[in-house]
Amino acid sequence: MTDASFYEHLFGVRGKVALVTGGSRGIGLMIAEGLVRAGARVYISSRKVEACEEAERELAPYGDCIAIPCDISTLEGCEVLASAIQAREDKLDILVNNAGLTWSLDVDEFHEKAWDRIVNLDLKSPFFLMQKLLPQLRAAASAEQRASVINISSVNSLKPSNLRNYSYVAAKAGLNQLSAQLARDLMADHINVNVIAPGPFKSKMTAPLYATEELDQEVTASFPMKRWGRMEDAAGLTIFLSSRAGSYLTGVTLPCDGGATTIG
Ligand SMILES: NC(=O)c1ccc[n+]([C@@H]2O[C@H](COP(=O)([O-])OP(=O)(O)OC[C@H]3O[C@@H](n4cnc5c(N)ncnc54)[C@H](OP(=O)(O)O)[C@@H]3O)[C@@H](O)[C@H]2O)c1
Repeated sequence: MTDASFYEHLFGVRGKVALVTGGSRGIGLMIAEGLVRAGARVYISSRKVEACEEAERELAPYGDCIAIPCDISTLEGCEVLASAIQAREDKLDILVNNAGLTWSLDVDEFHEKAWDRIVNLDLKSPFFLMQKLLPQLRAAASAEQRASVINISSVNSLKPSNLRNYSYVAAKAGLNQLSAQLARDLMADHINVNVIAPGPFKSKMTAPLYATEELDQEVTASFPMKRWGRMEDAAGLTIFLSSRAGSYLTGVTLPCDGGATTIG
């Protein structure tokens, strides 16, 4: 084996089929870009048709990207998206449950809508979308080539912050433990379930933190590495977990945060 083919053998995802929810922007788009550029066929999904089409156009020059707009905050939505994938693919090697929302309010003001909307999307939908796609994940999986479910959590699930995002931290911490449980229960199906817990990445969700140049500089200076997360950080870890190189990891939560959880 040449050096290049050994590298592809170890880290390659070429020819694999992936679904990235919330792939129209932010971290999901970064992950989708990395997977497409590495040669996977990547389905992306989010609610807004135009945003999906725009992302599909943006990634088309790099390879195979297909957008399927869908709201997955309900069980019915998860079924619709899973059916759309099933109509196109017999197998699914990589499922990235990335779509997420947050909501911050004082503890006295926090209301049921802010609870239910976040828990439905950030905790319930990763479970039911994965459940509906299990036939395709099982079809892709073998002892030699394990399928990979990657749930996108947050450093907020590991360490309290000043954000007052109560339902979000509960949902994301729940997602970490749910993933460990699923890793156990899907072991014999050769399906790995891991969590990436991102630190700060520029996106619509974090836009208020860099609304002005001055604020951006101040916030960036507070990060241990003095920089925001980049496409390579989110995509690199996803590719690693989806490839042979990451095959021996399951049930773990990996912070992708430039040291924020342990050092910051
Ligand atoms: N950015 C960070 O620093 C950071 C840090 C820690 C964790 N995270 C996590 O990383 C993930 C991505 O966050 P982000 O910062 O990239 O956020 P973002 O820019 O707001 O992107 C969220 C994505 O989810 C989609 N989405 C929202 N509601 C949906 C629904 N009901 N059904 C389907 N898709 C939906 C959005 O598209 P539509 O609006 O078109 O639906 C968008 O594509 C989230 O799980 C978030 O909790 C982010």
